[in-house]
Amino acid sequence: MSGKLDDFLTNLQNEIFDDTIKTYGETAYERWRNPLYMKSIHNPDGYARVTGPCGDTMEIFLKFNEGRVSDASFQTDGCGPSQICGSFAAELAFGKNIDELKEITNQTILNIVGGLPEENQHCALLAANTLHDAVDNYLKKRLS
Ligand code: FES
Repeated sequence: MSGKLDDFLTNLQNEIFDDTIKTYGETAYERWRNPLYMKSIHNPDGYARVTGPCGDTMEIFLKFNEGRVSDASFQTDGCGPSQICGSFAAELAFGKNIDELKEITNQTILNIVGGLPEENQHCALLAANTLHDAVDNYLKKRLS
């Protein structure tokens, strides 16, 4: 009985994973299963919390060392694609200086993810906007 239930659940899970790969692609799937850099950073040098029009919120945390990002992370209460985009936004930030960080756009994130369905593309915009706000927060702190 429990063996049949286990088989049913395993098959169901595999179907969900297969559907996810078909819809979002292999890169997005792998990152969804293993959302790297999803954590808070204590006392960040740059921080932003942005709520998108969809109602989901993203946070980005940045640490700098000699003008370049030495640590980066994100948190979100949003959809799977927002986790994927936040994770790649944090990954892209590593080692970048201010000018290079400003060049990271929603399109940069979509390119590295390998594209997302039309209805999820705003998730990349939320990640890029939050990253830029975290950079602005760092710059404001330096000036004050
Ligand atoms: Fe809101 Fe994806 S639906 S960030």
